[in-house]
Amino acid sequence: MKIDNYEEMLELILDHSHEGVVLCDHQGKIRYFNRIYGETFGLSASKDIGKHITEIFPDARIPIVARTGTPEFGVIYRWKGQKLVVNRIPVKEKGRVIGVLTQVLFRDIAELRELSEKVNALQTKINIIGAELRQYFQAKYDLDDIIGDSQPILELKSQVRKHAHSSLPVLILGESGTGKELFAHALHRLSPRAKRAFMVINCAAIPKELMESELFGYEPGAFTGAAQKGRIGKLELVEGGTLFFDEIGDMPLEMQAKILRVIEEKEVTKVGASKPVPVHFALIAATNREIEALVQKESFRSDLYYRINAIVLKIPPLRDRKEDIPPIAQHFAACSECNPSQRPIRFADEVFSVLREHDWPGNVRELKNIVNFALHNLASDESLIRIDHLPLSFLKKRQESPFSPSPLPLKKVIRNKEKEILQEALRATSGNKIAAAKLLGISRSVFYEKLQR
Ligand SMILES: Nc1ncnc2c1ncn2[C@@H]1O[C@H](COP(=O)(O)OP(=O)(O)OP(=O)(O)O)[C@@H](O)[C@H]1O
Ligand SMILES: [Mg+2]
Repeated sequence: MKIDNYEEMLELILDHSHEGVVLCDHQGKIRYFNRIYGETFGLSASKDIGKHITEIFPDARIPIVARTGTPEFGVIYRWKGQKLVVNRIPVKEKGRVIGVLTQVLFRDIAELRELSEKVNALQTKINIIGAELRQYFQAKYDLDDIIGDSQPILELKSQVRKHAHSSLPVLILGESGTGKELFAHALHRLSPRAKRAFMVINCAAIPKELMESELFGYEPGAFTGAAQKGRIGKLELVEGGTLFFDEIGDMPLEMQAKILRVIEEKEVTKVGASKPVPVHFALIAATNREIEALVQKESFRSDLYYRINAIVLKIPPLRDRKEDIPPIAQHFAACSECNPSQRPIRFADEVFSVLREHDWPGNVRELKNIVNFALHNLASDESLIRIDHLPLSFLKKRQESPFSPSPLPLKKVIRNKEKEILQEALRATSGNKIAAAKLLGISRSVFYEKLQR
């Protein structure tokens, strides 16, 4: 067979195409269709060319596309119970629509549909994951949420402002309850990554055997018990956000080696996968352990330590910045978490003297608990926190002290002790008053009455 006529060649191509093609002019009159289009819709060139497309398909959108000049791609067109995929493309000359070329895909519709369903399902999943990420993996605190005007706190805040824009790893050190997590949140919030995820990995809380899949994710069926669809690890999920390795001093040695590799190579390989994928994140780590001593003892890798300590924020214990106690106590007394009814609360001056005498081994967390305790101890019509609202441990210390003014009357001491026991029971029953009353072997009404006193 010889093909030398250009028009014949074009017709040959179009007639051997597996997709239907129809060309209409700008008014919507049919000017051409190829063989498969004619066969499928029962058209013949002699009879149908020149007809308006709506004479054949009353709901045809070709006239609309001709009018608007806007193409439509991948539109599903229902015809005799079949779904066809249609592209409608305006043909323009010098900016004016002179016709509309329509392509109709007849074959493999089922396959296409399957593919489109898969894409839709994936899109839905991505949307869900995105929404979850935003909801769960967000930094909650700003620098303003960190209360305290002591020199070390002001200095730390200015360091945070200075370094937040870099992507260098930050190591936050400090005793338990000093506010390390708070500083990590604030650092992320001030960084260029603020709108991205802030993902916390608590190295002390995740069991060693789960940590790898939590961080790296795994391929479907990577190990017995692996979820069928596999899992994306946090290192991948964080996508340009911040990873906060909390309690990094407790990270198992084996995992330390793996994390070091991720930091250095900036890629992760899922458990059971053969190829790594690139990952992007900034790193903040925190620990209340003496990390240098851990390095000396070789229970923390020195190479990882030097990788994560580019910037070190050392938060001093509360006993070394006692001037922060009154503002922090006032902050807790006013915050909705501790004071849900939001009634105005004041502190008697001697309360602050007592609080200053304490050593605060549990730091700010302990102070928060004490304020919470005192708030629960207030009668509903009281708004001034006095010494006798504080837990017995404080009062005892004061009574034993030779400088203590006057010891409390026995009745008051007993009442305080009672309150402490009630609070303890409430804590043990996660705040369930009925269960707490049962635990103490008293009736519900007595429990309520004692709690109100
Ligand atoms: N300067 C502060 N201002 C207000 N709240 C604070 C401050 N420091 C700590 N807190 C509060 O005290 C509690 C303990 O803080 P955080 O969890 O940040 O401590 P941490 O150093 O991470 O302790 P741990 O080592 O035990 O994990 C939290 O409720 C936190 O909001
Ligand atoms: Mg913490």
